[in-house]
Parts: sequence; C-alpha cells; structure tokens
Amino acid sequence: MTAGWQDEWLLIGETAERTESLGAALGRLLTRGDVVCLSGQLGAGKTVFSRGIGVGWGATVPLTSPTYNLVHEHERTEDDARLCHLDFYRIPDPREAESLGIHEFLEGGDIVIFEWPERILEQLPAERLWIDIMMRDDEVRALAFTARGERHCALLSDLRRSLSRE
Ligand SMILES: Nc1ncnc2c1ncn2[C@@H]1O[C@H](COP(=O)(O)OP(=O)(O)OP(=O)(O)O)[C@@H](O)[C@H]1O
Ligand SMILES: [Mg+2]
Repeated sequence: MTAGWQDEWLLIGETAERTESLGAALGRLLTRGDVVCLSGQLGAGKTVFSRGIGVGWGATVPLTSPTYNLVHEHERTEDDARLCHLDFYRIPDPREAESLGIHEFLEGGDIVIFEWPERILEQLPAERLWIDIMMRDDEVRALAFTARGERHCALLSDLRRSLSRE
C-alpha cells in the first residue's frame, strides 16, 4: 500500500431506511475486488447497511444476516460478478476463517463484505473500506468510513460525489 492512501468520512443514518439507502449508494459503486468491513455492536445496523448494498449492486436474492451460515454468496443478472457476505460473530476460532474460503473470495476478485471483521483482523487485507456503525440513540446511527489503499480511497470519493448529488 502506498503510504498516505487513507481517507475518512463521517455520515449520519437518521433512520434504518437512510442507513439502507447509504448502503445502496455504496452498492451501486462496488466493483470486483472491493472489500467492505462493517463493524459495530449487536443491532448497530451492519445487516441493514448490507441489505442496501445488495439492492444497489443488484443482487438477485436480498441480502440477509449470514450469522448462522457465516457466508452467503450472491450473484446479479448483468454479469458474472459475485458478492460474498460473511459474518464472523459466531466463528469459534479465527483460524476457521480460512476454511470458509475467505482467501479464495479475496483472491478470486469477488466483492467481499465482512460483518464482525474485528474477529479475524489479522486475516483481513490491509486495503479495505472499513465502516464503524455507532448507535447514537434508538434510531440514529453514525457511520464512520475509513478507506485504506488507492482503490478504496477512490471508492470513498465516488461515494461522496454520488451522495452530494442527491
Ligand atoms: N438508523 C438506523 N440504521 C440502521 N438500523 C437501525 C436504525 N434505526 C433503527 N435500526 C434498527 O436496528 C436494527 C439493526 O439490525 P441489524 O441486523 O442490521 O444489526 P447488525 O449490526 O447486523 O447486528 P448483528 O451484530 O446482530 O448482526 C434493525 O432492527 C433496524 O431496524
Ligand atoms: Mg448482522
């Protein structure tokens, strides 16, 4: 990673619908090889945001919580791209991440979304878009975006641009 490729942005999701639509705005921009890490406590809104990503990206099946299966693989009709949605909340041992095929997904150029990425921190690629979702009250969420590496910084700039046009 080139030194200096880091960017941050803070957004507010006033309602679940807004958080989902922010996810959709990101989903419209995702391309092969993008890595999105969604961090935040139970019920913060990681899956709500992911559902939005699925809508924006055009997944044929709506994104739901992969908490029990640990991994859901999604397709869309317009091309053969694949989006993998993983949740590490229940992973008994971080070394098991390998057996779920995370390196295959990453190296195969899939788009990868991680919930509970902190559980497998050491196995994550250094270049990624990390989103911390923080509960402000029952409804309001703060979403702190940190992009690392050139392509994810470009992705975050594109998101800024697309939301500024709304
Ligand atoms: N502004 C908001 N943004 C996102 N979710 C919200 C918001 N306000 C209320 N909610 C509610 O909070 C809940 C978030 O649930 P969600 O499953 O997305 O959390 P999660 O972070 O994925 O939790 P888990 O760690 O259990 O997977 C939903 O019931 C949603 O309707
Ligand atoms: Mg979830």
